[in-house]
Amino acid sequence: MSVSSKIRTSIQKSSWVRKMFEEGADRKKKYGPENVFDFSLGNPNIEPPAKVGEILRELTSNNESGMHRYMPNAGFVKTRDAVAHYLGDINDLSFGPEDIVMTVGAAGAINVVLKTILNPGDEVIIPAPYFMEYNFYVDNYGGITKTVTTNPDFSLDLSAIERDINSNTKAVLINTPNNPTGKVYREEELIQLGKLLDRYSKRHGEPIYLISDEPYSKIIYNGLKFSSIFNVYKESFVVTSFSKDISLPGERIGYIAVHPRMADKDIIIEGLGMCNRILGFVNAPALMQRMIPFLLEDSVDMGLYRQKRDFLCAGLDSAGYRFAMPEGTFYLFPETPVPDDVEFVRSLQEENILTVPGAGFGGPGHFRIAFCVENDTIERAMPGFARVMEKYR
Ligand SMILES: Cc1ncc(COP(=O)(O)O)c(C=O)c1O
Repeated sequence: MSVSSKIRTSIQKSSWVRKMFEEGADRKKKYGPENVFDFSLGNPNIEPPAKVGEILRELTSNNESGMHRYMPNAGFVKTRDAVAHYLGDINDLSFGPEDIVMTVGAAGAINVVLKTILNPGDEVIIPAPYFMEYNFYVDNYGGITKTVTTNPDFSLDLSAIERDINSNTKAVLINTPNNPTGKVYREEELIQLGKLLDRYSKRHGEPIYLISDEPYSKIIYNGLKFSSIFNVYKESFVVTSFSKDISLPGERIGYIAVHPRMADKDIIIEGLGMCNRILGFVNAPALMQRMIPFLLEDSVDMGLYRQKRDFLCAGLDSAGYRFAMPEGTFYLFPETPVPDDVEFVRSLQEENILTVPGAGFGGPGHFRIAFCVENDTIERAMPGFARVMEKYR
């Protein structure tokens, strides 16, 4: 057999997602890409800040020797030092460069953390709906994903998390602001989560790690404050990237930050560097690492995403859609008017509107709209959204 049986199964399981993407591609061919309204991908449409191009031009004209060589697996000390200072300024903690590992995006960061901490059979609790790739990442290292429900407003359901904790629980993986719901977890619920994990860690005699995936931490609306897990629980990792807030997803740059007071910090940090290497990443891209110290305080203009959110939500609201207003990210996760979200998404497809069924995120009865698209796309898709809702009412 050419492909491993595990990958064959994964391909089969995700075949309907693939099929929908293929159908979308066919529609683009048939009707022209400008007549297909593609809300299926979280690929930011806003260009990176102009500064990115300027720094890149400067870096590529630097003829100093060694610019493109390998460096320590955790990344350049200068870059990690800059990240450590940045994190120290926004948290009540002091970080050193040793607490930071530069990675190939947040996806690389999550994989490196999971490989470092998981033994086969270890369980990772993930509140649903969630970013669908987590299943694969946990499985990569023989771990078992345990999804738990969230509250109707998508805030954390701590009793659901508590019910699933057992002696095999190695980590809880959260994502705030959340893809696909747009939920931003509040400080109080994170404090309670920290207390819960602390209690069970003591009972087990081993830490249950908290991993917070935060690539959307700067994409927050209405003056809402982002709350960090670092201020509530010391057995914690933050994984993040510059894919979404600086619009650099193709450049694959992110980092892991380890809580400076984590109990087994030294061996964990050694493990992270080792796993960055043996997963084949070796190190994060050198040029991108050199650029990061200049970009830590920056982001694209979030006002532009807020305008898109407000415009989309106003249109869908008057068409009769029901949804929780996203507090962050560029995703909206409305309810489908029928239980079968795949059927509903197919009806939208008939109007050349491409979205993703909630079932793919562990959130059936919903669908995800990625509104990181041109304003014109939202405007021209609106009559189609209204017609489909009308059909089901
Ligand atoms: C919640 C979440 N985590 C991680 C990632 C991966 O991001 P990156 O491009 O930084 O690897 C994404 C990408 O869409 C995401 O939505």
